[in-house]
Amino acid sequence: MSSRTIQVSPFDLVVFGGTGDLAARKLLPAMFQRDRAGQLPDEGRIIGVSRKPLGDEGYLAFVRKALGDHVKPADLEAEAVTRFLARIHFCSVDVTGEAGWAELASLLSTGAEHVRAFYFAVTPDLFAPISQRIKQFGLVTPQSRVVVEKPLGKDGESAAEVNAAVACVFEESQVFRIDHYLGKETVQNLMALRFANRMFEPLWNSTHIDHIQITVAEDLGVGERGGYYDTSGAVRDMVQNHILQLLCLTAMEPPDAFEADSVRDEKLKVLKALKHINDRNAEHTTVRGQYRSGSVAGQPTPGYLEDIRQEESDTETFVAIRAEIANWRWAGVPFFLRTGKRLAARTSEIVVNFRPISHSIFDHTAGRISQNRLVIRLQPDEGMTLEVMIKDPGPGGMRLRSIPLDMSFAETFGVSNPDAYERLLMDVIRGNQTLFMRHDEVAAAWRWVDPILAAWSHNAQRVHHYAAGTWGPSASVALIERDGRTWLEDAE
Ligand code: BG6
Repeated sequence: MSSRTIQVSPFDLVVFGGTGDLAARKLLPAMFQRDRAGQLPDEGRIIGVSRKPLGDEGYLAFVRKALGDHVKPADLEAEAVTRFLARIHFCSVDVTGEAGWAELASLLSTGAEHVRAFYFAVTPDLFAPISQRIKQFGLVTPQSRVVVEKPLGKDGESAAEVNAAVACVFEESQVFRIDHYLGKETVQNLMALRFANRMFEPLWNSTHIDHIQITVAEDLGVGERGGYYDTSGAVRDMVQNHILQLLCLTAMEPPDAFEADSVRDEKLKVLKALKHINDRNAEHTTVRGQYRSGSVAGQPTPGYLEDIRQEESDTETFVAIRAEIANWRWAGVPFFLRTGKRLAARTSEIVVNFRPISHSIFDHTAGRISQNRLVIRLQPDEGMTLEVMIKDPGPGGMRLRSIPLDMSFAETFGVSNPDAYERLLMDVIRGNQTLFMRHDEVAAAWRWVDPILAAWSHNAQRVHHYAAGTWGPSASVALIERDGRTWLEDAE
């Protein structure tokens, strides 16, 4: 399978936080892969910016190491590495002071007419000062864009401040708010599945769908990110952004076109229609969890408190939520959302459970008729499974059983999917905002999440402990079973 590669326009990608973890793990490897694929034009430069006094040579060593650490050895062909390194520049800049900005301006002046993408791979408290300096030094051109990473605030109010700081300098059409889940191939496939096929959309509503589960499970713990994570927790880290975006794409009405504002308008409507969870109902609709020591893949693993080196913490590393969308299409259909660290497996999936058939013509000897289920797997093995009933083959009479119609993208297409950042960075350069969040989406997501966090705090809602390597606290099983449903891994 080959796919068409269309080169992007000449560009300068300016990475603030150029020596940081995100640059090393994601941005540089992604740009390298796009270069290998022939998607970067000769006039494409990557300018690392950091306070460190590295110089071009020092930064080249950093980039070499980043590629060595995060790119498959087989992909590091000498010619490709040399070509990529020739695109790399470095500028030592004090982003909250004056030093280095004139040098950055001078470097950029040689490509004044090129697309200019400023990537803020730094903490949000630096968004305002960096934006201001960019303006002060006259670096914004008509072809400029800015890319911001989460966390975009820690609640609605602080998110509004972050948005406002960036909006003082950039138009909304220039702001690219990254949610890397939107760059995942299967997430985009969800739109293809729903809107490029006749057969699903007529069934995609409360008449035919019983409930939907969205799970993003990780087997890793918080690793070295304990400092950040302990002030964040699973709701801010995963639900406010990734899980709500998955929910939106699953539940939204068909947009009039596959275009940025059409898609984002529909996602916004879903966020606005989410029923509020508050002090009154949080206890019954949400579960908080935190991992204790346990065993993941046969290996003993420490608990959260050991990971963050604290005696105590109330931060949730797991959350399960029973959400509802109050609109015509989804009234009465529960959406069970769940995410956590140190769970039994790394698996992300959207499970659409259809209602039972209205009437069975078969007698009891045929066996139980299972409900159809569509599982959209985001990771690790991206693909889709549709569970359908068939007759058990053979002459033994009419016996029914459910079989999976399984499609693994890796097997079908013989390629592994590119990292989400590859797609998203190319979209930034192309100026396509379809897979990026608009400011009002971010605000609407916080409007739903803030009252949940407030209710937990007002009600002092308990954090249930779970052993690492399990599917979370038993309260999460109870949450879904109260509704007469079961999580996919417990279903027969
Ligand atoms: C990030 C979160 O946004 O997403 C991390 O901050 C999480 O805590 C990560 O581990 C998960 O991303 P992925 O692509 O590995 O599922």
